[in-house]
Amino acid sequence: MIKVINLPKIADGRGNLSIIEEFKQIPFKIKRTYWIYDVPGGVERGGHAYKENEEFIVALSGSFDVCLDDGNERKVFNLNRSYMGIYVPKGIWRVMNNFSTNSLALIVSSTDYDPNDYIMNYEEFLQYSKKQTNSL
Ligand code: TYD
Repeated sequence: MIKVINLPKIADGRGNLSIIEEFKQIPFKIKRTYWIYDVPGGVERGGHAYKENEEFIVALSGSFDVCLDDGNERKVFNLNRSYMGIYVPKGIWRVMNNFSTNSLALIVSSTDYDPNDYIMNYEEFLQYSKKQTNSL
């Protein structure tokens, strides 16, 4: 199940600090971290699903939308807080768009990068999603 997760926020007079730890705030072991930045206006990222990879997405800065689709249903989440993210299980079609100027998307992933783990074709995803149980 996809899940919006509130991260700890440790605030004092010097600013705020938030934390992501494997198997604590997020339900998987962290294998990889990447970030998306300098996204031109109007651009869409993603547009694929993963067969095995799970991920957790945070808007470290600015805002963007994460559009999720399990083959039956679609939901759009606007991320705009450094202490809140969305957990995306494997087998979910995922698009990111509406990036604000200077937004910074952090993605924490459960697997190494593997192009063979991607489903890039939406029709293929629909067929694949009928055979598996992940849902929004
Ligand atoms: P991609 O996953 O398609 O990005 P998005 O889903 O945001 O549109 O990756 C874009 C490019 O970066 C593609 O050429 C593969 C490369 N890439 C890596 O080499 N390693 C990685 O961990 C990731 C996520 C992408």
